[in-house]
Amino acid sequence: MLNTDVAKRRDEAISRGVGMQTQIYAERALNSEVWDIEGNRYIDFAAGIAVVNTGHCHPKVMAAVTEQMSRFTHTCHQVLPYENYIRLAERLNAAVPGDFKKKTIFVTTGAEACENAVKIARVATGRNAVIAFGGAFHGRTFMGMTLTGKVEPYKKGFGTMMPDVFHVPFPQDVHGISTADAMAGIEKLFKADVDPARVAAIIFEPVQGEGGFYPAPADLVKAIRALCDKHGILMIADEVQTGFARTGTLFAMHGHDVAADITTMAKGLAGGLPLAAVTGRAEIMDAANPGGLGGTYGGNPLGIAAANAVLDVIEEEDLCARATELGSRLKQKLEAIRATTPEICDIRGPGFMVAVEFANPGTKEPDAGFTGRVRLEALKRGLILLTCGVYGNVIRFLAPITIPEAHFAEAMGILEESVAAARLG
Ligand SMILES: Cc1ncc(COP(=O)(O)O)c(C=O)c1O
Repeated sequence: MLNTDVAKRRDEAISRGVGMQTQIYAERALNSEVWDIEGNRYIDFAAGIAVVNTGHCHPKVMAAVTEQMSRFTHTCHQVLPYENYIRLAERLNAAVPGDFKKKTIFVTTGAEACENAVKIARVATGRNAVIAFGGAFHGRTFMGMTLTGKVEPYKKGFGTMMPDVFHVPFPQDVHGISTADAMAGIEKLFKADVDPARVAAIIFEPVQGEGGFYPAPADLVKAIRALCDKHGILMIADEVQTGFARTGTLFAMHGHDVAADITTMAKGLAGGLPLAAVTGRAEIMDAANPGGLGGTYGGNPLGIAAANAVLDVIEEEDLCARATELGSRLKQKLEAIRATTPEICDIRGPGFMVAVEFANPGTKEPDAGFTGRVRLEALKRGLILLTCGVYGNVIRFLAPITIPEAHFAEAMGILEESVAAARLG
């Protein structure tokens, strides 16, 4: 079977609304390697968009899922509960930053986690409005896309967004947007658009993912916390992309000295099985009446078994420290490439959540064309890279944190060659 043949069938069978970065049809995957149906082998620096932080098919995760599958795959926790669901909640309650009693709910996707965080904030505060940031990504459901701070392709044509959601600029050092600008944006909202006493929550990503891998500066996180405390607003940290060792700590908020009231997570939580969670202050999480939260598949047994194994693997293999080490070596490599690549205008990101941004050296305009060429040159050479950013001019690196040394070194070589090839046009 050829990729091109399946691609033709895909065009006939699947809505074009589901965008695709490649037409490489996966056949099998192991840790940081993927093979397609033609037998071609790739090094995977996408990890299913920050999902398999513990590598494709980690033996411990596979064993846990297989063992669970041999007993039962679904009972619906709301009908017949199971113990490992409670154990995972206990572990997340202990691990999520915040020195207070916490409770958790399980859902299935990151968007659903963000939806539920807003529902919980609304029912706990009795308020309606939510503040989010430009460039943010919180999913494709109605509230998820409304919270998202990017029109094309996420909102365009999809009609009226949810009411009472407001956006302010997110700090971007490299583009001259500061914490002061972001906070002034919120103050302006309070004067012009919404009474702070009507605001239920401020939601932010500790490192903007889809929006371009811009880390939230420490002073922004502190200022949001102070503003929330002043006005009785709840602070929601969306750790869907930053979670589970990616940034060099279990959660990116471990790098800050204030904590969110509510944390959303998904992606890296269950090593590739669909599982998401919302963890927050116990009294806030208890505000909804029984039946108001949950869903048929929320906390599916296979995802729960996988997630308990993922947490074990992160601990046993010291993946937080490994993320910091790999990220620092990746940044060194990018700095070396920068010496001969004036198109590189920024290299950033905590831990192994690293990105490189490209701009035209003459005009300083974001250069999506160059960025796309780097990605395609890398793909030709067997390295899967992802782009991101509101202008599509950022390459984000999201390899499994378990990547073996030899594959990491090979990927660094391909990256260097691909940037050089992109410069040749
Ligand atoms: C920060 C953040 N929040 C929410 C989502 C939505 O997650 P999902 O695609 O699982 O709905 C994403 C997905 O990329 C994300 O990066």
